[in-house]
Amino acid sequence: MLGWSTAPGASGGLSLRELPEPAPLPHEALVRVEAFAPNPGDLEGLAASPAGAVPGWDGSGVVLAPAADGHGPEAGERVLFLGLAGGWAQRRAVPHTMTATAPADAPWERLAVLPVPATSALRALRRLGSVLGRRVLVVGATSAVGSMAVQLAARSGARVIAIARDHAQHEALRQLGASEVHTTLATVTSRVHGAIDMIGGEHLVDAYALLQPGGTVIALGHAAGADEIFRYGAFVADPTTADRSITSFFLGSEPDLDSEMGYLAALPDLEVGEIEVRPWTELATWIDAGAPRRSGRVVFRVDQSASPPL
Ligand SMILES: NC(=O)c1ccc[n+]([C@@H]2O[C@H](COP(=O)([O-])OP(=O)(O)OC[C@H]3O[C@@H](n4cnc5c(N)ncnc54)[C@H](OP(=O)(O)O)[C@@H]3O)[C@@H](O)[C@H]2O)c1
Repeated sequence: MLGWSTAPGASGGLSLRELPEPAPLPHEALVRVEAFAPNPGDLEGLAASPAGAVPGWDGSGVVLAPAADGHGPEAGERVLFLGLAGGWAQRRAVPHTMTATAPADAPWERLAVLPVPATSALRALRRLGSVLGRRVLVVGATSAVGSMAVQLAARSGARVIAIARDHAQHEALRQLGASEVHTTLATVTSRVHGAIDMIGGEHLVDAYALLQPGGTVIALGHAAGADEIFRYGAFVADPTTADRSITSFFLGSEPDLDSEMGYLAALPDLEVGEIEVRPWTELATWIDAGAPRRSGRVVFRVDQSASPPL
């Protein structure tokens, strides 16, 4: 089969070449990959990958062979999936706990943009407990994860305060369910039950300062690439600041994502934003050019014709 593998010195650090067929473990299904949408984590991980590794976390496709342990989707089912590597190829092995059956009418491109961002947002939101009637801050609300978090928090009954540096995106965030939209955290005047932060740096410091007693910040992303410096007093507790916390998680080691991915894929009104579709042969040059996107996500459609599926 054909697939992209890491090749130091090549365009985008990748080369499209003939690869061995995946050898699924007993808990893994063999999947024909139809589409994938690189995530920031995919791109950041490229430099650290050993030469010859096949990157790619998530995507959409068809089960060619179900997991040998008898769990998960059957052969022929349309699925969306998530696994730590191997996705930028015509076929891949993926754990059944990270593979969900997709609605029959959902386009491959829509399914491909859901697994990492939408399940990250859902897991983050669940860590805040019940948000019904509570204030939830989403920092980096225009990001793929952030726009999902805004929508899921709003449909969970939260009053969503969205932070997005691009003012032109504020009205769209209100349409997704945000009650307040701010360019920076500095103008948020009331404290919040919880926060989901995709940006890090000063944003994380400021989000923590906005927590009510008992509140939690989920430090989910670090898009700013900046240090977090907490000034003296940030962790001094009094009745108005006690029991606040910052926590994080790594989606790739979260168990049992299949039911959540299936739930999210079946939400017809979950807005996934603009999708720009490209042939997968353009992946390396796209990465070489800095992974540009107008807005929304870039989805690569996999051409199966060069090497027929099993
Ligand atoms: N912990 C996990 O398991 C997990 C899972 C998924 C994602 N993540 C992380 O979560 C983060 C977001 O992922 P994503 O896919 O949603 O990213 P994305 O769609 O690429 O969006 C990145 C966002 O960061 C904003 N941004 C970048 N630099 C900034 C800065 N200096 N100041 C303020 N905003 C800045 C961008 O704003 P503009 O739109 O204005 O440019 C955009 O909203 C990433 O760090 C990713 O690695 C972690």
